[in-house]
Amino acid sequence: MERTQSIWHKETQLPHYPVLEGDTATDVLIIGGGMAGLLCAYQLKWAGVDCLVVEADRIAGGVTGNTTAKLTVQHGLIYETITRDWGREGAADYLRANQRGLEEYRTLGREIDCALVEKPAFVYTREESPKLRREQKALEAIGCETRWHRGTELPFPVVGALEMPGQAQFDPLRFLQGILPGLDIREGSTVRRVEGCTAVTDRGTIRAKQIIFCTHFPFVDRRGCYFMKMYQDRSYVLALEGAWSPRGMYIDQKEHGLSFRRAGELLLLGGGGHRTGRQGGGWEELRKAARRFWPQSREVAHWAAQDCMTLDGIPYIGRYSPAKPQWYVATGFNKWGMTSSMAAALLLREMVTKGRADWGWIFDPARTMKPLPLAANILSSTWGLLTPSLRRCPHLGCALQWNPRERSWDCPCHGSRFAFDGKLINAPASRDWGGAPEKK
Ligand code: FES
Repeated sequence: MERTQSIWHKETQLPHYPVLEGDTATDVLIIGGGMAGLLCAYQLKWAGVDCLVVEADRIAGGVTGNTTAKLTVQHGLIYETITRDWGREGAADYLRANQRGLEEYRTLGREIDCALVEKPAFVYTREESPKLRREQKALEAIGCETRWHRGTELPFPVVGALEMPGQAQFDPLRFLQGILPGLDIREGSTVRRVEGCTAVTDRGTIRAKQIIFCTHFPFVDRRGCYFMKMYQDRSYVLALEGAWSPRGMYIDQKEHGLSFRRAGELLLLGGGGHRTGRQGGGWEELRKAARRFWPQSREVAHWAAQDCMTLDGIPYIGRYSPAKPQWYVATGFNKWGMTSSMAAALLLREMVTKGRADWGWIFDPARTMKPLPLAANILSSTWGLLTPSLRRCPHLGCALQWNPRERSWDCPCHGSRFAFDGKLINAPASRDWGGAPEKK
């Protein structure tokens, strides 16, 4: 597998934590040591709740260390969609939850040295499209300030750009360094199964009163059926030296278009994305853009991230399943995991400590799914199941696809990934695959 490293990981070493040994008990067990899990632990600790985080590998080893780290409530074109499906109340609930998350980052960022700086966020379009105007109207209808621009500082012409002022960017690992002291964490401790409120690892068990699943993709299939209502997407980033210094953070309204933000002296150029297990532009597309717009620039790092995508664009935060009232989940952040993680931590803190929250209802994992996207996602998985191949995913048996760019075996059904020797890289599969000789 190709070794890549984000600029965050290059610059910051997080502390190591011991493996869970033996049996223990806690009030709240948090499974998963990414940004969402660690923020849940931080918020609960400050609310006086005893909690323990268990991480299968290293904390912040997944998308948290490979994000572009934008802190914004502007999530592509989501507000018009939510207004259409859930009314203005739904869009306002989504906005308020993310504003709370952003505000909490601002508060913590005053104490933690994490390069948090205020920036405007922009969604731009290069083609005539009424969608962006509709998004502006949806935002105005719920009282959110926006500005329309006909031109931008981008190195190509745009038809329009929608600005949301007062957003922010930061360094996620430096931020985590600031919240980690005092948290109870075990690394290298894969949870193999959960029986009621007891989690079982290879070397011990954890008995809890409540459990929060922050494992990126929830791995307990019998409850919640997250594998039916999510899929995974890969996206790519280049860090360029000597390129261009944008004033704001930019993203294309098109699903897999280019994104831009500054990080110190570097330009972070994102894009090239695709559903996991399928083809897409990848780093090659980004390098082509870099050569075209900044031929004098130099690539200093490149990396990729894997995001959980929900079928309606709204994360799942709340009770894991109506049948499991002591289990909670935070997943499906749709590429907006930094702000959504904080919104999730604040919401779950309330649900865990008070039993309910009077906001954040839009994230309810038990909400109704639209039949068409659900059917399309199930059909896509069925196709993967019926595809002939000797190499089958240990999750539910779909045909694995060779990913020559990253030299891994990827599952197009729900996005599990494996190194060429079969070692598990990404859930929902919970064990290694038998492996095969590396394809040349
Ligand atoms: Fe579900 Fe592969 S990830 S079958």
